[in-house]
Amino acid sequence: MKGILLAGGSGTRLHPMTLAASKQLLPVYDKPMVYYPLTTLMLAGIRDILIISTPADLPQFRRLLGDGARLGLRFSYAEQPKPEGIAQAFVIGREWLAGEACALALGDNLIFADHLSQLLQAAAARPVGATVFAYRVRDPERYGVVSFDTAGRASDIVEKPAAPQSNWAVTGLYFYDARVSDLAASIAPSARGELEITDLNRRYLEQGNLHVERLGRGCAWLDAGTPDSLLQAATFVQTIQSRQGMLVGCPEEVAFRLGYTDAAALRAQAQGLGKTDLGRMLAELAEGAHE
Ligand code: TTP
Repeated sequence: MKGILLAGGSGTRLHPMTLAASKQLLPVYDKPMVYYPLTTLMLAGIRDILIISTPADLPQFRRLLGDGARLGLRFSYAEQPKPEGIAQAFVIGREWLAGEACALALGDNLIFADHLSQLLQAAAARPVGATVFAYRVRDPERYGVVSFDTAGRASDIVEKPAAPQSNWAVTGLYFYDARVSDLAASIAPSARGELEITDLNRRYLEQGNLHVERLGRGCAWLDAGTPDSLLQAATFVQTIQSRQGMLVGCPEEVAFRLGYTDAAALRAQAQGLGKTDLGRMLAELAEGAHE
């Protein structure tokens, strides 16, 4: 399975911070925002990743992430000329995907949960259909909302409903089978002129092929698209890292734990981070102090 990291958009809710900088490169505590969804894709076992951003911002992503080889990954890059919807990622990425199954992670979403990698790998291993993750929120009208029948099966999915039928928001992490590019190409733009990810998900739902995993209360899902949620995400990462001494959203750590890099590589990466806490924690990991 391949992965797409979607990091374009206009970021209007973070103006003026995003007038001259990409939202997904803003810091979430001690790392650029895009590191968090990148590690999510890595934890799903995905190594081949297409990074999509605006023509203005894409060079900065290349500068930050390079070709991925130092993490044992393969990064490719593509432009989204205008923010014409999340599902457009599969139209832009169609040739690169070459008919493979694909996961999509939004560049401003952070998911943190116990046993996350098992959950993600199970979704990645499902040969047919799509898997999305639902999370209970207080303000579902801001999101795609999924409702369930009495048997607990997903019955409907609606984008930003004025009167939500449930509190279950669809998170910015989606797994699709090999049909995704064809299905995305068959969607018409919505009233706001976007190829809606909710319309793509509804196609799978109508075919009885949408798996909805409900994330429970032991899980954190944050999107960092407003000043408040950006601060909450930063505080969350700071709290976990300083209290537990465990890193959140660190691709160097995940690459090492998955066996893509060795201790010598990790030590060099830690050195490259100088005297930061992050560098110190990675150096300790390379020495086996965190086992
Ligand atoms: P949004 O947060 O819905 O949109 P935005 O980032 O443009 O921000 P704002 O609403 O403040 O103007 O987008 C969710 C994620 O998807 C975010 O990481 C940006 C990305 N995105 C794209 O890359 N291209 C798109 O066409 C859209 C709609 C979103």
